[in-house]
Parts: sequence; structure tokens; C-alpha cells
Amino acid sequence: MIRVSIFASLLAFATNHEITQRYTDDSSNLNSDINLNSSQLIMKYGYKSEIHKVNTEDGYIVTLIRLVQKGPPVLLVHGIGDSSDSWLVLGPASSLAYQLADAQFDVWLFNSRGNKYSKGDTKNFTAKEYWDFSYEEMGSKDLPATIDYILQETSNKKLTYVGFSQGTTILFVMCSLNPSYNDKINHAILLAPVAWVRHLQYPFITALSMQVDFLKLFFDSVGMYEIFAKNSRKTDKGIVCNNSVREMILCNIEYYINYGIKNMSNLPADKFDVIDSHIPAGTSTKTFAHFIQGYRNQQFQRFDYGLIKNLLIYSSPRPPLYDISRVTIPVSIIASDNDWFSNTKDIRLLLRTLPNVKRHITLNRSLDFTHIEFAYGRRVKSIVNDPVFKIILAERDANNP
Ligand SMILES: *[C@@H]1O[C@H](CO)[C@@H](O)[C@H](O)[C@H]1NC(C)=O
Ligand SMILES: *[C@@H]1O[C@H](CO)[C@@H](O)[C@H](O)[C@H]1NC(C)=O
Ligand SMILES: *[C@@H]1O[C@H](CO)[C@@H](O)[C@H](O)[C@H]1NC(C)=O
Ligand SMILES: *[C@@H]1O[C@H](CO)[C@@H](O)[C@H](O)[C@H]1NC(C)=O
Ligand SMILES: *[C@@H]1O[C@H](CO)[C@@H](O)[C@H](O)[C@H]1NC(C)=O
Repeated sequence: MIRVSIFASLLAFATNHEITQRYTDDSSNLNSDINLNSSQLIMKYGYKSEIHKVNTEDGYIVTLIRLVQKGPPVLLVHGIGDSSDSWLVLGPASSLAYQLADAQFDVWLFNSRGNKYSKGDTKNFTAKEYWDFSYEEMGSKDLPATIDYILQETSNKKLTYVGFSQGTTILFVMCSLNPSYNDKINHAILLAPVAWVRHLQYPFITALSMQVDFLKLFFDSVGMYEIFAKNSRKTDKGIVCNNSVREMILCNIEYYINYGIKNMSNLPADKFDVIDSHIPAGTSTKTFAHFIQGYRNQQFQRFDYGLIKNLLIYSSPRPPLYDISRVTIPVSIIASDNDWFSNTKDIRLLLRTLPNVKRHITLNRSLDFTHIEFAYGRRVKSIVNDPVFKIILAERDANNP
């Protein structure tokens, strides 16, 4: 009964979705931004781009995109189901990557394992083995390998970090499991940070969270390990979402979770098609389940495998908690009162627990600034990117008086 009602709400949501009506397919024009990947976008706008492949200790290969400059390195880390594209698709006038490159920062764009740019591995994994990861491995494996790689490549001792949503979660995971990485980041800017998700505001989240173990088992049983896959919504007819009911449900959960957007005019009308063609970029069902578990268990903790497997893996019936107090990097936080995913109440808990918060900027309710707008909003430059840029300059100047 509960399952039926989740599906019903998702389907109802799907039929109301505005992007469905506004989407126009432009695949005929090869030079259109719609058809360009991260490196092609960067080159099209006259910047120098490089692709770097990083091997993780557990045999995954992740892809970094670099906008090469001589200045200090800045690492930009995308949100759930997204990719390096999220820092580029609004173009040089609005996207943070270009703004930083224009000021001579050496900009590195992360791609977590499993997204459309980071699907490689060195171990000939089967699909089942490959997709057996959540945001934990992005934080404990991909991110440390990436940071070490950049510091070595640029002969620096530290870099500056900017993370959005899941891009903050994996920073917390990394530093709580391996605090030595605190010393490799001089400052972290956390956009719409996500650790505790006790107050996720999606209408059917309670029902969904009760079913999360069932859903994970179901997806495993049908061999479906990846969700929010690249262009799964884009068909030859330019229609949002694939007709198969299974995928349809997932893509709508993704729209809801990532986008939670009420007023579509807060996305730039002239970039709609470009945004829609670049997201989603794929992740594992386990990542998604891990976030939903956080709501069900009301904790920021490692993946919950159930009693027996938890005992085997963690020697404890419950998963260990991630210890946020071990994240000692100086941080600046920008969060919105209108964010369903990075909720104000959860942010308060985060602020009480993080030991080194230097700045906290709240985007108040009157701005009506939702989660997705941190990456794709029409007002992202003035409301988010300009303040981020100023913080980065201030921190650079403070470190080099
Ligand atoms: C983008 O596409 C070009 C042309 O197919 C390719 O050479 C390049 O490796 C791609 N970049 C990434 C990051 O995949
Ligand atoms: C992976 O498969 C290729 C081709 O079958 C083989 O040459 C290679 O040795 C395998 N690598 C590993 C780590 O098993
Ligand atoms: C929907 O997805 C299935 C499985 O990936 C694929 O075979 C089919 O062609 C897709 N349908 C459309 C209309 O894209
Ligand atoms: C949506 O945003 C536009 C532009 O900011 C504004 O003019 C409009 O009143 C908003 N609509 C609603 C329903 O809030
Ligand atoms: C909310 O923020 C806007 C823009 O920064 C400001 O003009 C307004 O006074 C703020 N409202 C409240 C209630 O703080």
C-alpha cells in the first residue's frame, strides 16, 4: 500500500513536470553546448583544458578536468548524480570555474566514481562489483587520491576546496575517517552542505525511507546498480525519462531530490536545454540508498547493511557514525533557508559540531533559493559565486600577506 502511494506521487509529479514541456532537442547542431562534454565546453570558450586520470587504491579510475592556470589550485566537487559539467554549463558569464580561471586560479573539476566521466577501473570488475559503492568510497578513496594527485602535479602543499551538496558530504567522510587530509586543504567552501539529513522535506520521504532496503534489494535483484544515468531522460523524441516504468520512477526521484524547485523561472530560460542535457550524470543505487538511510536512521553514519552484515563489517550491530568534529579544516558555509535537502535545522546541528567555521552565510527565505540553484540557478553568480570568489580571494590574501 505504501509502495503504491510512493509510485502514485512520483507519477503525478512526472506529469506535472515543467521541463518536460520546455525541453527542445538540439542534437542536430554538433557545436551546440548540448552536445559538448566538459573538456569541449572549456575549449569552446577559449580556455586551456586537460583531462587527468587518477587511480584509487581500490582499483577505480576517476577523471579530473583541469582549466590550466599558473595560480594556486582550487578543487570543485559536484553534487549527487552530477559531474564536472555543473561548474561549466552556464558559461563564462556565470559559471564559477571560468570566474576562478579568469583570476589565474588553477581549477580542477572532480568526477566521482560511476558518473559519466569516471566509469573506468583497473580490475575488470563485474557490474555488480563495480557499482558496490556509496558516497563513503567517494570520500574515503576517490577524494584522497584526487587531492594527493593535484598536490603532486602542482607541487603545492595545500589546495582550496569548493563542494556542493554531496561534494561536502564526501569531504566530511574523508576527514572523519582520515583526519590527516585536514592538513591538505587550506580552506573549504561548503555550498548547501549535507551531513545529517534528519529534516529532508520531500513529501513522500518517510514512506520511501521505510522501503529503502526493499528497493535496494529489488534493484540488485534485477541487476540495476546505476541510477540517474547519463541522458536516461533524453530519448530520440526529446521526451524526459525513459518509458520503462522502473527507470521512470528513478528519474523522477532524482528530479525531486536534486531539484526540489518550485519556481521554474529561477532557472535560466535560455540555458534550460543545456542544463537538462548535461544532468543527470549517474551514480550507484547504493549512494542513493545511503542518503535515504541517513533520514531513516537520523544519523550521519556509514552504510547500514543490516544487523548480521554490520557485525561482520564493522564488528558492531549498528554502523559507526562519521565524526564531524574531526573535520578541522577552516570552512565557510553558504546555505539557504529554502533548501529541502540541506535543511536549516540540519545546518544548525552541523554548525554546532564543525570545530572551525569561519563564515556562515544564510540565504533567507525571501530569496526562494532552492537546492539545484546552487549549481544551475539564474541568480547563482550574484547570490553564490561572487561571494565564493570573494572568500577565496580573502583566504588567499590572508595566507600570503
Ligand atoms: C570529450 O569528447 C572528446 C571528443 O570525443 C574526447 O576527445 C574527450 O576525451 C572527451 N572529454 C572527456 C572529459 O570525456
Ligand atoms: C583484464 O582483462 C584484460 C583483457 O581480458 C586482461 O588483459 C587483463 O590482464 C585483465 N586485468 C586484470 C587485472 O585482471
Ligand atoms: C529505455 O531503456 C531501455 C533499457 O535501457 C532501452 O532499451 C530503450 O531503448 C529505452 N527507450 C527509449 C525510448 O529510449
Ligand atoms: C517566480 O519567480 C519570478 C521571477 O523571480 C517571479 O516574478 C514570480 O512571481 C515567481 N512566481 C511565484 C509563483 O513565486
Ligand atoms: C533577506 O535577504 C534580502 C537580500 O539579501 C534582504 O534584502 C532582506 O532584508 C532579508 N530579509 C530578512 C527577513 O532578513
